[in-house]
Amino acid sequence: MTSRRTFLRAASVLGLQTLGLAACTNGSHHQHGAGSVPAEVTGHGGPPTRSLRIPPLLEGTVDGTGRRTFELTAQAGTTQLVAAGPTRTWGYNGVLLGPTMRARRGERVAVTFTNELPEASTVHWHGMILPAEMDGGPHQMVDVGGMWTPTWTIDQPAATLWYHPHVHGTTARQVYAGLAGLFIVDDDASATAGLPSEYGIDDVPLVIQDKTFDDDGSFADETVPTFGIMGDTIMVNGTIDAEFTATSGATRFRILNGSNARLYHLEFADGRDFTVVATDAGLLSEPVVTTRVSISPAERVELVVTIAAGERVDMVTRSGDYDVDEGEFVILRLTGAPEILAADVLATTLPGPPAITAAGEATRRTFTLNGHDAINRKEMDLARIDTIVPAGATELWTVENTVYAHNFHIHGCAFTIVDVDGRPPDPTQRGLKDTVFLPPKATATLAVEFATYADPHRPFMYHCHILRHEDEGMMAQYVLVEPGTEHTVPTVVATPHGGHGH
Ligand code: C2O
Ligand code: CU
Ligand code: CU
Repeated sequence: MTSRRTFLRAASVLGLQTLGLAACTNGSHHQHGAGSVPAEVTGHGGPPTRSLRIPPLLEGTVDGTGRRTFELTAQAGTTQLVAAGPTRTWGYNGVLLGPTMRARRGERVAVTFTNELPEASTVHWHGMILPAEMDGGPHQMVDVGGMWTPTWTIDQPAATLWYHPHVHGTTARQVYAGLAGLFIVDDDASATAGLPSEYGIDDVPLVIQDKTFDDDGSFADETVPTFGIMGDTIMVNGTIDAEFTATSGATRFRILNGSNARLYHLEFADGRDFTVVATDAGLLSEPVVTTRVSISPAERVELVVTIAAGERVDMVTRSGDYDVDEGEFVILRLTGAPEILAADVLATTLPGPPAITAAGEATRRTFTLNGHDAINRKEMDLARIDTIVPAGATELWTVENTVYAHNFHIHGCAFTIVDVDGRPPDPTQRGLKDTVFLPPKATATLAVEFATYADPHRPFMYHCHILRHEDEGMMAQYVLVEPGTEHTVPTVVATPHGGHGH
């Protein structure tokens, strides 16, 4: 099987080169609509290459005690993305985006993070269940030239997580500059689930972002007043107009919405079915066959799609009604290689974690998202603890949205969406989550299972993940405390620079 796959990969690379020349003589590839291109044209014209970049895997080094150590460095540089000129970009272990980190459940991981950016930053492990001091939120600032060495034990089901900066007030700008990467957690169950799992071949990461370029090629920011960035150019893994050639009949895409604000309604241009196999925090127990899945900033979804040899189909996003989803774009131009491995039939059940359920007497809390910069009428204050939660508790959190589209992300936990406006969520949203989209005026109730790491002095965040909103103050803090000590812990904390918030 390995040798057959190797042969097919070689064949498809050859195909790309040959057909790439043909495509060159064809002139601009920007005009290629899904239906207007001869089926055999699977390559592309001259530089910059449109072939989907695959972020390198970063698996670290494992020592005798089983501890996995990673080196991660944030850097500034330039990347040639558009003809207008080089773009100033930031990345991890490179100058745009970051490698895909990978570790197994049960492993102890240690990261040496070095900040070579011209300003202070942090690295937040979005979706990771770990102690608050390792979370990389705004309380774990890393100064220019500084180092940070978090360590924790991976103790959660297999999932596609990610990492990004979390500096209060500048997260939007730092992420938009390119700081984001995936962190894949594997476990025994995911390894035997029968899902495509050859990284970059049939298990393909897609970090979807929208950008606008200034005349000199730099990333334009502040493009819309309420939401910050609503770009007119889609970039996937740092590739504009990305093309991918599938060498396997079934391809799994691990999709991260790494955008500042945009909501995507993903479909295939011909309306074909695909199967959603995972959400933010783990595999689904029952895969969902659908033709559309929606994904708001910071959410992840994994889907499996089948394609035939020589076939072409675009993954697209459809326009919607919430302002943050205006516009139709091609996300990825997908082509089946001339010869393709037959797709295995997907299992009808997967070893996903069970839904989180809250007992009748569970603590209930309500959070109202006000305007675009406050929760329960308060703007974020780094020195204020807003909520105190007993470690290991399962609570019912109701999030009410008032005016604009928002989403809601909670650190240090996973949740199940119980209902949205009193109805069960869409089937594609029924897996474990850490971020939920809220249309204007919607209310969602979440059954939230919190981590067991008590630390009354170091808070976790919860916030809208539209980055402009989180920077403006639509964010608040909770601490996890030893059960029974809720009334004894301080509600004021030391801030990273000793002062008060902003
Ligand atoms: Cu993606 Cu507060 O994080
Ligand atoms: Cu997070
Ligand atoms: Cu928001």
